[in-house]
Amino acid sequence: MADFSKFENIEILTHPLIQHKISRLRSKSTGTAEFRKLIHEIAMLMGYEALRDLELEDVEIETPLEKCMSPMIKGKKQAIVPILRAGLGMADGLLNLLPNAKIGHIGLYRDESTFKPHAYYCKLPSPIEKRTIIVTDPMLATGGSAIDAINLIKESGGKKIKFMCIIAAPQGLKALSEAHPDVKIYVGHVDRELNKDSYIVPGLGDAGDRIFGTK
Ligand code: PRP
Ligand code: URA
Repeated sequence: MADFSKFENIEILTHPLIQHKISRLRSKSTGTAEFRKLIHEIAMLMGYEALRDLELEDVEIETPLEKCMSPMIKGKKQAIVPILRAGLGMADGLLNLLPNAKIGHIGLYRDESTFKPHAYYCKLPSPIEKRTIIVTDPMLATGGSAIDAINLIKESGGKKIKFMCIIAAPQGLKALSEAHPDVKIYVGHVDRELNKDSYIVPGLGDAGDRIFGTK
């Protein structure tokens, strides 16, 4: 596997539960219902790691025995921004951890011959500049979609941005890390390479089609 330890903005989440669930996700015998469930579960496990730096503040709580000061998440200013379509499955999983987060949507599709992303939708919650923004997409292949999505968020004023993907190709991971060095990237697994159709191999196939049962 390529060595990404020198890239300060990349964190590869090697937790055994995440790795086990990614293997089940890859299998071509995993059907739509199980695929969706696994995407939710992996997003939650990744979120647990990626949200370690959420700010806390002490608030007064009254237990059945006495009052005490106890830490709770400060501000509640998070936004989850899935890249359509496949990022939606991860956003649902993250909402279990951050039920009050606002949701933005960025619509991008890859041209099947040039592999370049085309944007067709962008709606972000305001004030975007004050929010911690978690962009989700299970697949980081050439990196073009993630780079463009984050460009759109920055053009709208977004500043504190994290990106979460389940499987990345080495090329895409390097490209995203270099294009947006200020964005922390959380990755479940780095695969071998891209094939001639710019699909990640071994990968899991087309994530959007597997989540939504299309094709
Ligand atoms: C997939 C995937 C990413 C993108 C990754 O989406 O979910 O958004 O490709 O490829 P890249 O890193 O080379 O840009 P796709 O364009 O197939 O759209 P879909 O989710 O609507 O199927
Ligand atoms: N998009 C996918 O869904 N899978 C890949 O392998 C590459 C891009």
